[in-house]
Amino acid sequence: MASSPLLPFLPLLLLLEVAAAARASPLEILPEGAAPCEAGELCLQVPLWKSDPPPINVSLYYESLCPGCRYFLIRELYPTWLMVWEILNVTLVPYGNAHEQNISGRWEFTCQHGEQECKLNKVEACLLDQLEKSAAFLTIVCLEEMDDMEKNLKPCLQIYAPKVSPDSIMECATGDRGMQLLHINAQLTDALQPPHEYVPWVVVNGKPMKEKGQLLRLICQLYQGKKPDVCQLIASSHKEVCFK
Ligand SMILES: *[C@@H]1O[C@H](CO)[C@@H](O)[C@H](O)[C@H]1NC(C)=O
Ligand SMILES: *[C@@H]1O[C@H](CO)[C@@H](O)[C@H](O)[C@H]1NC(C)=O
Ligand SMILES: *[C@@H]1O[C@H](CO)[C@@H](O)[C@H](O)[C@H]1NC(C)=O
Repeated sequence: MASSPLLPFLPLLLLLEVAAAARASPLEILPEGAAPCEAGELCLQVPLWKSDPPPINVSLYYESLCPGCRYFLIRELYPTWLMVWEILNVTLVPYGNAHEQNISGRWEFTCQHGEQECKLNKVEACLLDQLEKSAAFLTIVCLEEMDDMEKNLKPCLQIYAPKVSPDSIMECATGDRGMQLLHINAQLTDALQPPHEYVPWVVVNGKPMKEKGQLLRLICQLYQGKKPDVCQLIASSHKEVCFK
């Protein structure tokens, strides 16, 4: 991919990040008995939903190098997560339109955007396997913003999971573990009901969301508990999302 069209939006995302950090003090959401965060650690690692009404499940079936997937992840899912992470349960499933074949007992993958995409899908599957959940999400967002994701694994990890070495992630991605993790993602993707038609394929509380640009509104609409303030802001200005 040539120079990334995503980069001009970074300042906005950083602003959102600062706003989100200012609004939600991690200490307020620590459950009783939880260890406070150590300096330098990412402090969102406690269970994010406070209690009763269950969080909204948002699953993204995608592949690492598909431009539409990157756009959705960076421009829609990530900002939405920054605004309403307390009521979200995000699941990333890197695999998308790939195929797998059992070749004498080993899974071999073919990816829409070539071998590098298969490798990066495995890198992301390994991040999801080895990192705490929000650190994995943020590291993947960080990678997907970059032109050269493999080269940027180290700096992205440095920010969000400084104790995890890029070598351990690459070892996973190029070894048996990466193969197994991608095979699990293949099974999750192939089991989708209804089956996915394209990528990015977004499933909200078990149903595909086909309208783009509506994620935040839909989450606000579906959530049964006390809604985050941002939901009031958008509620007054827009119609209901059609979601059947
Ligand atoms: C969050 O999603 C994961 C995977 O989709 C699921 O296993 C887990 O039960 C969900 N958690 C909640 C609280 O809904
Ligand atoms: C994959 O292939 C090997 C031998 O070619 C076979 O023994 C094994 O059962 C196959 N595994 C699956 C899950 O199909
Ligand atoms: C989220 O997914 C989990 C695991 O599949 C499920 O138990 C839970 O009911 C789902 N939550 C909602 C709000 O649908």
